[in-house]
Amino acid sequence: MPLVTTEEMFKKAMEGHYAIGAFNINNMEFIQAITDAAEKCQSPVILQVSSSAIKYARMDYLIAMVNAAVKNTTVPIALHLDHGPDFETAKACIDAGFTSVMFDGSKYDFEENIRLTKEVVDYAHSKGVVVEAELGKLAGVEDDVNVAEGDALFTDPDEAYEFVQRTGVDSLAIAIGTSHGAYKFKGKPHLRFDILEKVKEKLPNTPIVLHGASTVIQEYVKMCNDNGGDIPGAQGCPDEMLKEASQRGVSKINVDTDLRLAMTGVVRKTFAENPSVFDPRKYLGAARDEIEKAVAHKMTDVFGSSNKA
Ligand code: G3H
Ligand code: 13P
Ligand code: ZN
Repeated sequence: MPLVTTEEMFKKAMEGHYAIGAFNINNMEFIQAITDAAEKCQSPVILQVSSSAIKYARMDYLIAMVNAAVKNTTVPIALHLDHGPDFETAKACIDAGFTSVMFDGSKYDFEENIRLTKEVVDYAHSKGVVVEAELGKLAGVEDDVNVAEGDALFTDPDEAYEFVQRTGVDSLAIAIGTSHGAYKFKGKPHLRFDILEKVKEKLPNTPIVLHGASTVIQEYVKMCNDNGGDIPGAQGCPDEMLKEASQRGVSKINVDTDLRLAMTGVVRKTFAENPSVFDPRKYLGAARDEIEKAVAHKMTDVFGSSNKA
């Protein structure tokens, strides 16, 4: 089935009170693992690519691999630019065949964010592509933007309403306490569901996006640390919180860190247990299987998108 935009999948997700997983891709193993999981779970899915992923894997390779994946699947799949830093990057992705782009203007002031987002929206819509924007700031690393924890800024629901009206954006990423990477909370995990509720009251028909929403799966953190890794105290958003977010109006949940941890954990374990292995298919194949398992778990047990294709 050819690539689709997120319009229809978000509409159904909002009606059915579940969320669509958006998983970051950097190479063939990630693409195969995610799309195989989506097919087996009969779940719609979003494959997302950051500008550093484009630099790493190269645009033509990413597009060709994604097209090969969708040729072999029957479920709706969107190809999305994650944290697009400027108009030029968004345009390059739209022109290359992406069906959705994010323009991340969260580092700009409100008016500048509106102006730059609208430029992307106008171009994208003229090409039948949908746009996600971001309002509020997440703590942690946003691509090449590093936001200190104290600077994180929750989304203001009134501003969210005005932002959507003035930009015509198709979906909105909000800041309610999540952050990128493997260290999301110092103390007990906590999300501002009250802000989500107010945003949904004002924007009942706008799909809401949660960035920085990895669980930081402890099984993989341990697998890394037990086999030579050094990522102590890593902590993410518990599954129950993400399940609640999916049921309370979040329509897209972004996951990158969990898949990185799965791949790294399995590769480290394989090397530690089999020091004589030097065939990359052995450790990358095992990593691919584990990523597929992690994605299927999220679709089925957390986001509720299984059997919604
Ligand atoms: O939110 C950022 C994503 O995890 C992408 O990270 O820029 O290192 O590819 P990246
Ligand atoms: P995590 O770091 O929590 O996986 O977030 C990924 C993300 O938001 C990509 O845009
Ligand atoms: Zn993000």
